[in-house]
This record gives sequence, C-alpha cells and structure tokens, in this order.
Amino acid sequence: MERTPFGTAPGGQPVDVYTLTNKSGVEARVTNYGGIILSLRVPDRHGRFDDVVLGYDSLAGYLAESPYFGALIGRYGNRIARGRFTLDGQQYTLATNNGVNHLHGGLKGFDKVVWTAEPFENAQGMGLVFTYVSPDGEEGYPGTLTARVTYTLTGDNALVFDYHATTDKATPVNLTQHSYFNLAGDGKGDILGHVVTLNADRFVPIDPTSIPLGDLRDVTGTPFDFRRPTSIGARIRQDDEQLRNGQGYDHSVVLNKSGASELTLAAHVLEPTSGRVMEIHTTEPGMQFYSGNFLDGTLKGKKGAVYHHRYGFAMETQHLPDSPNQLGFPSTILRPGEHYRSRSVYSFSVSAV
Ligand code: GLA
Repeated sequence: MERTPFGTAPGGQPVDVYTLTNKSGVEARVTNYGGIILSLRVPDRHGRFDDVVLGYDSLAGYLAESPYFGALIGRYGNRIARGRFTLDGQQYTLATNNGVNHLHGGLKGFDKVVWTAEPFENAQGMGLVFTYVSPDGEEGYPGTLTARVTYTLTGDNALVFDYHATTDKATPVNLTQHSYFNLAGDGKGDILGHVVTLNADRFVPIDPTSIPLGDLRDVTGTPFDFRRPTSIGARIRQDDEQLRNGQGYDHSVVLNKSGASELTLAAHVLEPTSGRVMEIHTTEPGMQFYSGNFLDGTLKGKKGAVYHHRYGFAMETQHLPDSPNQLGFPSTILRPGEHYRSRSVYSFSVSAV
C-alpha cells in the first residue's frame, strides 16, 4: 500500500494519503484527515475506469470549505434538534452549526479531526484501521469515546466500513460515511438519471429545518417510494411538502429488516450510461438519502470540476436523525461496557444493459 504526504492539519499534525488497490484495478485513495475518501476509481461496462466520488485535489480544498465530501461522520450523523437532548435526567447542550440545530457532530466533527491510521492486508483485501479518541465534552458530548473505523477494499470491488466504539459515560453515537457519488464520473453532470432502488417501505418526514416530525411514514404514493427502480430525477420536482422541506431528497429511509442488526440490502443504484452499479448493504436501521441539493456551482473540485446543483448524491447508512430526542426511534445511546458495532458494504459492479 502506497502512503504519501498530503500536508499538515490546522493543529500541526501531518496528514497522509493511502492508496488502496485490488487485482481488478479498483483504487481508493483515503486520507487520515477526517477519514476522507479522496477518490474511488471503478470500471464501467467497457472496463473504463473513472473516479466516482466528489472531492478536492488538495488538503487545502477540504480545509477551506467542504460539505462533508467523502468524510467519516461522528459522533452523530445528521441532526440533533436545537443541539439539545436529555440523557439519564441530565440535559446536554451541543454545538449548533446548522441554524439552530446540531449537524454531523458539530463545528469540529470527526470529519475534521486527524485519525491514527494503521494499514493492513488480509485475505479479504487491504485497508486501514482509523482510531480517534474523542475527549469528554467534545462538541458538548458526554464521555470519552474511543472510535475505531476500518475501511477495507476487497478483492471483489467492495468498500467495507466497520465501525466500533466504546465510551466511559453514556453518549449518543451514530457514525457514518458521507461520500458523494456520481457513477457517471466525478464532475460529469448531475445525478438525476441514476436509477435507485431502496429496500424501504417507510421514510422519516421532516420539518422545514430538517428535524423529524416523529412519525415513520409509508412511502406508498409518495416521491419517496423507490421500491421499484426509479430515477432520482423522475419525481424530484413534484409539488410535495416533504421535497420542499428537504429542498429535494434529504431524508432518512427506514430499511426493511426482520432482525435488528443483520447485514441487509439498503440500496441498488444503476447509472445507465456507464452501466456502473453500486449496491449498499448495512446493519443499520436507516439510510439518509441526500440528492446534493445544496451544491450550487460555487465549489470547484478535482481537476477543475464544478459542482453544480445535484452533481452528487450521498447514501449515509445510519440510525435515524435526532434519535436522542425521538423516543420512538431505535436508540443511539452507547453506555460504558457496551460495544457500538456497525457494518456497511458498498459494492461496485456493472450492468450490461
Ligand atoms: C446531510 C444533511 C444535509 C446536508 C448534507 C451536506 O445529508 O442531511 O442536509 O447537510 O449532509 O451538506
């Protein structure tokens, strides 16, 4: 595995890029700054490789402004309303960084910290073990949280994310990966033609500040019904209150599961012009589907690419938003002595048609 310097983080720590490869020529470049996936090269149906994730060429790009391109998110993926929650009778106040709400771990979430990286190779493939110890009180969260996240590029073209955490005080934890995909190739156009299938009968309706209303809604008859393959663009401009509240798709779906923590299919995505397919399996109960609504052409990415509206989408496997305040949602509280464990697999292949 190749390791090259990528610059220096604002705290003075050196940052590296690790290049993971497999025998089919798939290549993922990953940095220990924020656990960011910088590039991911996978073949199309003619065997031509393209980078299918958005991002920047240099660390400076990520430091200047990044809507979480490629990053590892923690302690809490998505929002916690007003940055407040009560746990065991005590109220906690978190950093607010999205209007009045807390988003993706706060002002300096796990996407902006330097992780310790340990490369490995095994029978499955090659990868990195990232470790970060988040101090008690960081961004307002209780307890010292020791997070260990393993990225593996497998021999059969999958990226596997294994998350583990322990704590010394009860705390919410909801780790995820925030890569923006464009399976036609980074910067090559919008993602509206991607054909998506989601294994979800229900989704989480939100208010205009993207906080869950509390109910889990049946997707039947809504633009959130992706149980049959449907392009992202087919209904995105419909006059629908939920699409208005998210400014497009920016919602969690509730994955269909028979058992709590099995690894099951979450999403199948086909990009018809290239034939590239991405399939996501996860042990998580939900997945945030974000259609790149806040990209507006102001960010200039890799090799001069301009990220216009909806040039990338994210599928963030995770627990549901605002769970610490939504007592009907699966719990995100980790207690001392418990192990947080979560696995998500993003597999790449091609479709002949
Ligand atoms: C998540 C959020 C969105 C947005 C993006 C990044 O998907 O739900 O509202 O913050 O991350 O911009």
